Amino acid sequence: MTCVVIVGCQWGDEGKGKIVDLLTEHADIVARFQGGNNAGHTVVFDNRTYILHLIPSGIFRKGKLAVLGNGVVVDPIALLEEIDGLQAKGVTVGDNLRISDEANLIMPYHKAMDKLRETLKGAGKIGTTGRGIGPAYEDKMARGGVRFSDFRGNGRKDLCGRLKSIIEEKNVLMRSHFHTDAFFDVGEIYDQYAALYQRIMPYLCDTSVLLNEAIDAGKAVLFEGAQGTHLDVDHGTYPYVTSSSTLAGGACTGCGVGPTKITDVIGVAKAYTTRVGEGPFPTELTGQAVGELLQKRGQEIGATTGRVRRCGWFDVPLVREAVRLNGMTGLAITKLDVLDTLEHIEIAVGYRDREGEILTSMPHHAGAAAELVPEYEELAGWESSTRGLTKLSALPKAARRYLDRISELTGAPVVLISTGPSREETIVVESVF
Ligand code: GDP
Ligand code: IMO
Ligand code: MG
Repeated sequence: MTCVVIVGCQWGDEGKGKIVDLLTEHADIVARFQGGNNAGHTVVFDNRTYILHLIPSGIFRKGKLAVLGNGVVVDPIALLEEIDGLQAKGVTVGDNLRISDEANLIMPYHKAMDKLRETLKGAGKIGTTGRGIGPAYEDKMARGGVRFSDFRGNGRKDLCGRLKSIIEEKNVLMRSHFHTDAFFDVGEIYDQYAALYQRIMPYLCDTSVLLNEAIDAGKAVLFEGAQGTHLDVDHGTYPYVTSSSTLAGGACTGCGVGPTKITDVIGVAKAYTTRVGEGPFPTELTGQAVGELLQKRGQEIGATTGRVRRCGWFDVPLVREAVRLNGMTGLAITKLDVLDTLEHIEIAVGYRDREGEILTSMPHHAGAAAELVPEYEELAGWESSTRGLTKLSALPKAARRYLDRISELTGAPVVLISTGPSREETIVVESVF
């Protein structure tokens, strides 16, 4: 039995898609457990680039099963567009995809509320992806969510009644709180979503049963996290976070698999740090030459919203905390090649707070975190190309030292090193499966 969870160590976009695609070669099943189409996971092979938002990044591997667990919030319109888009590119999406019938749906009013709320917040906005993720999770927790299973058989009658009261409440909010004329029609939404359900129905099943039976039969499962540790709703830089449990523990609740089944947790971390949206970022270099260089060489543009990503130095306390929160057994360091031209590289090893106190971890309160000044350690750059390297022995000495120092300070071994976007541009230090 091998069940590996892949999660991001920073604020998302660490290269999880690439690592999941790579590791799916050794897995039987790849499952998403949280988030929705706020994610943008890039997979590159055979000179083609694919960006996935909902469908697991293992979908390209023949003979593997892709699963969307109960913890994912699904926008059925976005899901069908993604399936159609992949099929149009010749990618098989059919019997190799299974979706939990207990997954909650992103409804039209969730998307509207996400955008309206951000506009109302003005300068205090979170910088969400505008996909309705927060409002959908709110309704799930408030027991006012809609699930695929609600459309099944007799359940439909109950759904009509529930939808009526849910939507009436949204319409009141639209007028009184958001001051818009937006109006949601119960009948229209029901008909539209019932039709979407019909198209998605062939993919639906009890994915917890499916996964547990597969695990019991000795199959290998890869759990694909979205977002990153510091966007987690409990442990991230609250309130500048997403609305789901992005940590490895989320794989259990988000897929209906017990914690005793998880064998490994691999954290994906960029060799530097990026963030999209608002929120504290102590090592940020926006507006400085190195920040611009990282942004340009790393092509740091959001895969979902097309926003320019904020860039900065590698932040040890951030990743060390990710190692602790996720119980990480290994790190996959990506985008090492982006640092190739630098003479010196800095890593933050702690911070100084407002009173000048040294901190070795980031305060969770966003206000306090925003005031931190990083304490840096300087390391020599390697000033030569690591792009596309596949052997550890081929890495320049200074690059080895950089990775060794990261491993030493964060407390987790580096098991994979990514040296380019493509599947084969990877150094396998230790095999994960
Ligand atoms: P995810 O959300 O964690 O899957 O990451 P994204 O796909 O949003 O962003 C990662 C970006 O970095 C994508 O454009 C990848 O193609 C690219 N990428 C991944 N690994 C590497 C690497 O080792 N080197 C370089 N240069 N690019 C990489
Ligand atoms: P992947 O899986 C980076 C950020 C948004 C915003 C905050 C809340 O590609 O790593 P939301 O729409 O979730 O309510 O937005 O979270 N965010 C991400 N940042 N990568 C992601 O996903 C993200 N998903 C959400 O920018 O700051
Ligand atoms: Mg991404």
